[in-house]
Amino acid sequence: MITLAVETGEDWWEVEALYDLCFAPGREALSSYRLRDGVDPVSGLSLTARDAEGILAGAIRYWPVQIGAVQSLLLGPVAVHPTHQGEGLGRSLIEDSLQRAAPLGWQRVMLVGDASYYKRFGFEKLEGVVMPPPTNPERVLGRALVEDAWSGVAGNVESVALGG
Ligand SMILES: CC(C)(COP(=O)(O)OP(=O)(O)OC[C@H]1O[C@@H](n2cnc3c(N)ncnc32)[C@H](O)[C@@H]1OP(=O)(O)O)[C@@H](O)C(=O)NCCC(=O)NCCS
Repeated sequence: MITLAVETGEDWWEVEALYDLCFAPGREALSSYRLRDGVDPVSGLSLTARDAEGILAGAIRYWPVQIGAVQSLLLGPVAVHPTHQGEGLGRSLIEDSLQRAAPLGWQRVMLVGDASYYKRFGFEKLEGVVMPPPTNPERVLGRALVEDAWSGVAGNVESVALGG
C-alpha cells in the first residue's frame, strides 16, 4: 500500500536522494533548475509517496515561475523509484497534486518533459513560452487548470524571485 502525503522539511534530503537515483547525473545543470535556484517550492503541492514500511517510493515537487505578468506552476521533478515504476504511482502523484492546485489559486501549470508521457494528463506543447536555453521547445508543455488559462500567455519563463 502506498500513501501520498504533502512533503515536509524532514523529507527534503530523502527526496533529493531519490531524484539523484532516478535522473541522470548532472540533473541540477538543467535549465529548469535555474528557475528554482533560491526559490522555495510551492507549499502544499509537493508530495511524497511512501510504502507500508515508510520507504520513499516516489515524489513530485512544484515551483512557481513567472511569464510576463502571469505566474505558472512548474511541475517537477517527478520521479518514481525503479522498483515501483509502471505501477501507476507517477500518475497518482501527478493527478493528486494537480487536483490540489486549482483550489490553492493556481490557474496554469507547465513542465519540461516527454509529451508522450504527459499528454495523458492533458499537457500540450506551449507555443511562445520560452524556457531558458538550452531547452528543446518540443518538451515545453502546459495544461490549463481553469479554462483558457494559457490563452495569450507568451514570453520568457523567469524565476519568480527575479521576474516577480
Ligand atoms: C516518468 C516516471 C515518473 C513515471 O512514473 P511511473 O510510476 O513509472 O508511471 P505510471 O506507472 O503512472 O505510468 C506508466 C506509463 O508511463 C509510461 N512512461 C514512463 N516514462 C515515460 C516516458 N519518458 N515517455 C513516455 N512514456 C513513459 C510507461 O511506458 C507506462 O506506459 P503504459 O501506461 O502505456 O504502460 C518514472 O518512470 C520515473 O521516475 N522516471 C525517471 C525520472 C523521470 O524521467 N521523470 C520524469 C521527468 S520528465
